[in-house]
Amino acid sequence: MSVIEDALRKSSAQQRPRSNFVASGWGSRVTAAPAPEVQSRHFRAAATDPEIIERNHVLLGVSDVAVARAYKILRTRVLHRLAANSWRSVGITGTTVGEGKSLTAINLALALAQEVNTWVFLVDLDLQRSQVGSYLGMNVDFGLTDYLTGQCELDQCVYDIGVRRLAVIPNVRRAENSSEFLTSPRMGEFVQTLTDESPRRVIVFDMPPLLASDDVLAFGPRADSHLLVVSQGHTARRTMANCKEMLAEMNVIGVVLNRSTEHNDSPYY
Ligand SMILES: Nc1ncnc2c1ncn2[C@@H]1O[C@H](COP(=O)(O)OP(=O)(O)OP(=O)(O)O)[C@@H](O)[C@H]1O
Ligand SMILES: [Mg+2]
Repeated sequence: MSVIEDALRKSSAQQRPRSNFVASGWGSRVTAAPAPEVQSRHFRAAATDPEIIERNHVLLGVSDVAVARAYKILRTRVLHRLAANSWRSVGITGTTVGEGKSLTAINLALALAQEVNTWVFLVDLDLQRSQVGSYLGMNVDFGLTDYLTGQCELDQCVYDIGVRRLAVIPNVRRAENSSEFLTSPRMGEFVQTLTDESPRRVIVFDMPPLLASDDVLAFGPRADSHLLVVSQGHTARRTMANCKEMLAEMNVIGVVLNRSTEHNDSPYY
């Protein structure tokens, strides 16, 4: 893990606020007390599929308490890091394909929304291999690329999946020129609109792998922070080393060791 630790050390030494978020006591969000009833906007209702959810190990269909506990620990750590820096968005990325980025993004978003004072947007930013909608069993007409290409308005691609405090922006159509989309002015407007939403929301971006394209590098500055997913038995040390330079340019707030076999009380984490 020394490469990861080194990358994190370098990255945290360079950490700097990137959003124009005005500090207003996010730290107080991490509390057991329920928030006063807050009016949040209603989004389009979208059904999910419980069987698909369970098959994909999405937290909503997981009964293993150790798994739920692992995600709660992750969410609280993320909330602390965001609050400490007055940040509000976190991109979930990794070095190569299949390390568990999308599952981590979905389950982190769900765990965050379980926290009574935290509102969440979950956004599928892997515009070439979008999985958020399919892992949740959503069958919807519009997604993020439709908004980015002007085929729909933002309200038409933000969905309420029946989980309190969570809104999901999946992607339906594959974008060939994904990094151009991610750096487009319309994408900037999209991030700004999510950032301006009231009540304030944590924004979780499901990102593609660092080494598959320039998407993460291109979008990187638009996310306040990044979480790196590494998969036990999958992520090679050499691959991590190849990503060192890229990681040093981002505010990496932590590393998630996915599929860890170290904890015997859970088959997954
Ligand atoms: N901790 C886990 N326990 C069980 N299954 C897992 C775990 N993490 C990931 N998986 C499974 O591994 C597969 C790949 O996971 P996922 O799609 O989240 O990876 P990814 O890094 O987003 O992949 P890609 O690079 O293609 O976007 C999925 O079938 C997912 O359900
Ligand atoms: Mg993915």
